[in-house]
Amino acid sequence: MDDGDQLAALLDEQAAFYQAVAAEYDDHALPFSGGAELSQALDAFRPTGSVLELACGPGTWTTQLLRHATDVTAVDASAEMLGIASARVGQERVRFILADLFRWRPDRRYDVVFFGFWLSHVPTERFASFWSLVADCLQPDGRVFFVDDGYRTDEELIEGEHSPVIQRRLTDGTAYRIVKVPHQPADLEQQLDRIGWRIKIQPTSGPFYWGSGNRPTRC
Ligand SMILES: C[S@@+](CC[C@H](N)C(=O)[O-])C[C@H]1O[C@@H](n2cnc3c(N)ncnc32)[C@H](O)[C@@H]1O
Repeated sequence: MDDGDQLAALLDEQAAFYQAVAAEYDDHALPFSGGAELSQALDAFRPTGSVLELACGPGTWTTQLLRHATDVTAVDASAEMLGIASARVGQERVRFILADLFRWRPDRRYDVVFFGFWLSHVPTERFASFWSLVADCLQPDGRVFFVDDGYRTDEELIEGEHSPVIQRRLTDGTAYRIVKVPHQPADLEQQLDRIGWRIKIQPTSGPFYWGSGNRPTRC
């Protein structure tokens, strides 16, 4: 098995974890403050127009996006997650798409691309291609907003603290390997700057952070 096959197997396992955890997803929420700061920041950003939500999960953020957006297209690889999101949010002004974001291509461009707790699950090897996808999804003057955290428990660090691969468990104890990259705000800003994005990362009082910005077009 070469490195590409190993990464593909890891990403399949990560997607399988989220399919399996969908029904109990809310029970795994991090018990920290700072979540309300993320919501306030998203409202202040005002995600207006046509919004694309990547890795929407059970629709945690979709309702809030709809407070500002004309319409939302929400993509996720888990049919279970999309079923929960659809039951929670309804179908009005929302288009749900079942797709693997490491293969999916957009059929149009959006005013805003949003992703909640997704970037930390994108492996380093796919970081640039993921941001290239985001660029392909945006109107020339489009904007990006994302929220995330770098929180990992000692128990999850099955390959040590320097590895992005961790282990998460379902409530019944079943273990899966997933990717969890503990981005540091200043480093992340610089990494994005190097590939053409002007994104400001703001930490909260808890382990969460949000990022917002755009990709200025070159003259
Ligand atoms: C940590 S959850 C975040 C869900 C939601 N955005 C939130 O903030 O609650 C990660 C989501 O990514 C989805 N996911 C995992 N691998 C994916 C892939 N390859 N393509 C699309 N979605 C994927 C999972 O199904 C899950 O819904």
